[in-house]
Amino acid sequence: MPIKTIIIGTGSHVPSQVVTNKDLEARVDTTDQWIRTRTGIVQRHIASDQEPNSFLASQAARKALDMAGVEPGELDLIIVGTLTPDMPMPSVACLVQKELGAMRAGAFDLSATCSGFLYSLSVADKFVRSNPASKILVVGSEVLSRRTNWEDRSTCILFGDGAGAAVVTGTSEDRGIESTHLHADGSLWELLTIRGLGTAHPVTQEILDKGWQYIQMQGREVFKHAVRALEAVTGEALKANGWNGHDVDLLISHQANMRILDFLRERLGLDREKVFINIHKYGNTSAASVPIALDEANRSGRLKPGMKILMVSFGGGFTWGAVAMRW
Ligand code: ACO
Repeated sequence: MPIKTIIIGTGSHVPSQVVTNKDLEARVDTTDQWIRTRTGIVQRHIASDQEPNSFLASQAARKALDMAGVEPGELDLIIVGTLTPDMPMPSVACLVQKELGAMRAGAFDLSATCSGFLYSLSVADKFVRSNPASKILVVGSEVLSRRTNWEDRSTCILFGDGAGAAVVTGTSEDRGIESTHLHADGSLWELLTIRGLGTAHPVTQEILDKGWQYIQMQGREVFKHAVRALEAVTGEALKANGWNGHDVDLLISHQANMRILDFLRERLGLDREKVFINIHKYGNTSAASVPIALDEANRSGRLKPGMKILMVSFGGGFTWGAVAMRW
């Protein structure tokens, strides 16, 4: 039996501070009803100044390690998918390594926006296939609130903070990751970007005045590309495994917009209970959204051995991808 990668523990963590749609009504010209009907979001969790990305990531990681029964010192590698690191250097992964005391582990961040967790899981899958005994911590973690313009109603209603994690290793059993599918289209980068504070546009008063330190998104255009790309990559993953839509027991998608989730559900012909939804609680947490959903599905008993799970994501870059697995 060929070696496959299995997830042996999951964890997630969100900050305690909750900002509701009603709270946002007081800040920008919006309504709870507009946000609910256009996005499905009801509230989001926002990190305090004492909760940088690495803190959320470490909290989620500890829970995943506990469930896996793996000590930090046993980890061979830590990969953190994120677009909102604590700082440019060091990586969040190195800070998590220090926080956990996982001193045998290599550590690096992976930048693929909302697809960061699925890209990271795909990389971990390749490591495990070449060294089945390795134990790898894969994290998706974001503090998008620091890069959100709280005066821009078209974006500030969407995003939230949080982290999700998974511990993976190899198995010769007939289960685990069946296929991974990664895509990108950099030619469309301007539709969804944080232009400023990198090397192209360093910190100057002019950059700050333009608001380039914040997320800027052409929402309607992004929406169109997101549904097309997610439909295509879903079809690709199904085909690669000889599955059809009805074979999927649970779809765990990036939680960007309830209307995107509904679209995918209809295209796959899935019943409502086969699509995991938690966007109402957390909003769009970018790279954290798939692993938070995975952890909630796992801890609530929705994942049963042998189930066919399809995870998909889409984000800035653009990047998109899918991971098909049997639990
Ligand atoms: N409250 C009230 N009205 C608003 C708000 C608001 N918060 N925001 C925008 N509007 C108005 C607009 O001004 C516009 O008014 P107009 O018709 O008078 O011009 C109207 O509502 C419609 O605006 P649209 O932008 O067309 O609204 P849409 O239905 O497209 O919803 C949304 C916007 C929710 C952003 C949607 O486009 C979306 O979800 N896009 C995809 C997001 C996504 O998938 N991102 C990818 C991952 S994120 C990442 O990578 C970090």
